[in-house]
Amino acid sequence: MAPQAGTYAQGSALLHFTRNGNFAPGGSELMVVERGEGAYVFDTHGNRYVDGLSSLFCAQIGYSYGEEMGTVAAGQLQQLAFNTMWGTAHPPALELADRLAGLAPEGIDRVFFTSGGSEAVEAAWKIARHYHLANGEPQRLKAIARNIAYHGVTLGALSFTGVPGYKEPFGEPAIYTRHVFNTNAYRSELAGEALTAKLLSEIEDVIIEEGPDTIAVIIAEPVQNAGGCLVPPPGYWQGLRRIADRYGILLHADEVITGFGRLGEYFGVTRYDTIPDLITVAKGLTSAYAPMGAVLVSGKVAAPLYEDKRTLMHGITFGGHPLCAAIALKNLEIFEREGVLENVHAREDGLRARLEQLKEDLPIVGDVRGAGFFWAVELVRDEHGGRFDADERERLLRGYMPPALFKAGLIARADDRGDSVLQIAPPLISDDQVLDDIVERMHTVLAGAQREFALA
Ligand SMILES: Cc1ncc(COP(=O)(O)O)c(C=O)c1O
Repeated sequence: MAPQAGTYAQGSALLHFTRNGNFAPGGSELMVVERGEGAYVFDTHGNRYVDGLSSLFCAQIGYSYGEEMGTVAAGQLQQLAFNTMWGTAHPPALELADRLAGLAPEGIDRVFFTSGGSEAVEAAWKIARHYHLANGEPQRLKAIARNIAYHGVTLGALSFTGVPGYKEPFGEPAIYTRHVFNTNAYRSELAGEALTAKLLSEIEDVIIEEGPDTIAVIIAEPVQNAGGCLVPPPGYWQGLRRIADRYGILLHADEVITGFGRLGEYFGVTRYDTIPDLITVAKGLTSAYAPMGAVLVSGKVAAPLYEDKRTLMHGITFGGHPLCAAIALKNLEIFEREGVLENVHAREDGLRARLEQLKEDLPIVGDVRGAGFFWAVELVRDEHGGRFDADERERLLRGYMPPALFKAGLIARADDRGDSVLQIAPPLISDDQVLDDIVERMHTVLAGAQREFALA
């Protein structure tokens, strides 16, 4: 029997990316979320939080579609609970694949389903390898990714992830990957096109150093999450496309976060006028009403997979699960019906303006950056953008922030995988009232941080 409301403890569960010992008996109380409504969630004590992070960038349509999703789920489970995509198929996954191909940028018309983001990233790598092998280039075994970028933690995807601390315990990466500069304009002396030129020339230098015909893939997020919503400078994505084409490298846009409306488009690359060869998605594909990921593949890259006697040497038992596919289809229907992308377009400037106001009001905010409903404020120790040292970051981001956010009733992400940031990614159905609520609570938390850390 479930314990009485409000009395849950960590018990036997190991929490992901968590200092598990913090929640041992006598330690901090674990926040246990048991209910959601609109852009809000409620813990087992009945405390209400505004979900300023969409449950880790997933809850695009918020939490109020359970009944509708439940009806779809019940119908699908009664019709067909499960079938694989291994040599057979089922209607919801086929329909979803066509639907996604219809939404994707031109020429991206094949879809391989997975259970989540890391699996999608690894599947994309394997599809890229198939392509190079079929083209007589088996030596293309290397990848280029960006510093601090997060592309997942299963061992293949972890190779692309550029956060050293996540990799060090696990030995040599499975895939040889060179990490290049990311697009943090705030921490660069250059801006605009000059920054673009420098970043692209660094990538090209790395390619030449490694040997252009040894590189299989360049992987990047349209707006990089880790490091705090690092937007590309002008022309950056078009530049990636040009470089990839110049050297026969495939361009992989990892849209696990930026896909499905986070930047106001179904695919973030659309915003940057670029058509990659591979796109990975997960999270928002179902708005997290079920776990699912996918790789979207250009016709060019998929072509060898249709050659006589060639087998796609990859498969995931639950990839394309009928329940998840049916829910994803319903999610897309809700996106259209409720004008989810339109909501992001209509409110993006207002959200930016609210965050810029925070910067005006609070010297601890050094930079505001992002796009769509995906924003970070970078936290600084002085008016010159001074960085907090390791000890200060520990106190600020892991000591002060979690309880302060909790007390303020705000779910947001305090992070220092790169520089110190507080990140938000509101549900895409948020109206002005919700956005006000999020930013007001950020103000409370950041004003407290400023007092605590003795900033002027
Ligand atoms: C850009 C990106 N790629 C891949 C992943 C891995 O996705 P998952 O946690 O579903 O395996 C994430 C997760 O946050 C991500 O942000």
